[in-house]
Amino acid sequence: MQNIILLGYMGAGKSSVGKVLAKKLERDFYDLDWYIERRFRQKVCDIFAERGEEGFRKIERNMMHEVAEFEDIVLALGGGTPCFFDNMDYLNTRGITIFMNASPDTIVSHLKISHTVRPLLQQKQGQELLDHITHQLEERMPFYRKAQHIIDVNCLDSFDKIDTLVDQIIETIKQ
Ligand code: S3P
Repeated sequence: MQNIILLGYMGAGKSSVGKVLAKKLERDFYDLDWYIERRFRQKVCDIFAERGEEGFRKIERNMMHEVAEFEDIVLALGGGTPCFFDNMDYLNTRGITIFMNASPDTIVSHLKISHTVRPLLQQKQGQELLDHITHQLEERMPFYRKAQHIIDVNCLDSFDKIDTLVDQIIETIKQ
């Protein structure tokens, strides 16, 4: 069976949804950021601090190639993964790609309840955070839109909605 690859902006719900999706399909779940952190024994935010974004993107690409070579997995990417190098074209050859599309408002509300440190959003809050997300999302959209499927995830306003969304994803990829 083909890999299932989840992509979308930070806070879209890739990891939370990916875990449940993998469990339902009895597949292994990989989160690219967690994979990088295990392989490098370093937090993503520390990699950013030490090597800058450019250094992180190179590592991210290499690790993405490593994980995406596995088979039958569910993989949640980092928010920026599809937007660098030829990553998105490569990912489309390695599985079923699904863009989890969330509005800036949904993203902000998800980020509020998240404990993950996101170096690109640190020190931004309120209107500045919303404007930054709106702008970056627009820039990233052409890459995200290369996904084979697009799923609206604005319905994800509580954890108990994850199950329904996962069923919707399963239906979508069956077609
Ligand atoms: C990033 C998203 C993060 C992580 C890094 C950069 C981005 O992953 O890879 O902080 O550029 O959007 P999540 O989308 O899992 O937060």
